[in-house]
Amino acid sequence: MAYDITLIPGDGIGPEITDATLQVLQATRLPFAWDRQLGGTAAVVATGDPLPEATLASIRRTHLALKGPLTTPVGGGFRSINVALRQAFELYANVRPARTIVPGGRFDGIDIVLVRENLEGLYIGQERWVERDGDPHGQAESVAVVTRSGSERVIRYAFDYAGKHGRKNVTVVHKANILKHTSGLFLEVGREIAREYQGRVSMNELIVDNCAMQLVLRPEQFDVIVTTNLFGDILSDEIAGLVGGLGLAPGGNIGAHAAIFEAVHGSAPDIAGLGVANPSALILAAAMMLDHVGETDAADRVRRAIVATIVADRVRTRDLGGTASTKEFGDAVARRVA
Ligand code: NAI
Ligand code: MG
Repeated sequence: MAYDITLIPGDGIGPEITDATLQVLQATRLPFAWDRQLGGTAAVVATGDPLPEATLASIRRTHLALKGPLTTPVGGGFRSINVALRQAFELYANVRPARTIVPGGRFDGIDIVLVRENLEGLYIGQERWVERDGDPHGQAESVAVVTRSGSERVIRYAFDYAGKHGRKNVTVVHKANILKHTSGLFLEVGREIAREYQGRVSMNELIVDNCAMQLVLRPEQFDVIVTTNLFGDILSDEIAGLVGGLGLAPGGNIGAHAAIFEAVHGSAPDIAGLGVANPSALILAAAMMLDHVGETDAADRVRRAIVATIVADRVRTRDLGGTASTKEFGDAVARRVA
């Protein structure tokens, strides 16, 4: 039986890095049945809608998607496609692994997985203007909502992930000293769930500003990190920066009804069509997807092939100081996988 997966090549460099990724996946010899669907600008051109119903229906059927970057059209009242997908499939956990690939950089030996709560917190869009000093825009307010059930499922996912991937520790990142309710609840739930995992996965707590500093001072101390939406947004980019930037950063969006894997970067319009984009982030996202469906051996092979191609074979795209094209890099990784 083949893995039924929705494939959204996306915009800009999306189709180029998707081709390279498919070639690498083919080299694993696992059976895949791809359901190609439109999203972003490509979908607007074809259907007038950046997130067509057919794409949503496909993910509802497969529960699994590999997605290239989507350009959210500016103006015209289009909603953000990524936000719409998040809401449609209750994608509550955003998972971002970051591992040192190119050695000898400023930060060696980093192997961190950040799990960010993705539906709650300050990002729920409850904002308003309040009149102050006669100015209708004199005051701005944003509401943060943290729920016990929402915290439970994302923190449980982080501990489960740690258990399944042979990881030892989960750091719960918070600001409960100031945000006593929202961050306090998240921390309280973290302590409860940690008790269930005692003896298997340890837990420690860290205040977010200290975490930001520790990540730069001693990143190798971190294993799995779990935190609320806003803190996770900021820390996940910090972590991507530690290990060489956007071209190497994959992400997974885990939901109650589906899981969607993608590169962290966008559609890179400045280099689209030139054939020079680094497909590593999407290939690594595909490896996360293989992990997710239980194909951990194939996932490890793909990750090792990326490292071998970049480090041992010294085949690198332009963003990593090399001269390889997207296709040449994809070919080299696929050869290593086969
Ligand atoms: P971007 O991530 O597309 O590009 C930022 C810089 O990084 C550019 O200089 C680009 O050339 C470079 N870069 C990105 N990925 C690369 C790769 N694989 N290889 C080599 N270089 C790479 O961010 P930007 O320019 O802010 O956004 C462009 C479009 O992408 C926007 O429409 C934005 O909304 C969308 N976007 C979509 C995302 C998604 O679908 N998940 C995530 C982020 C942005
Ligand atoms: Mg962000």
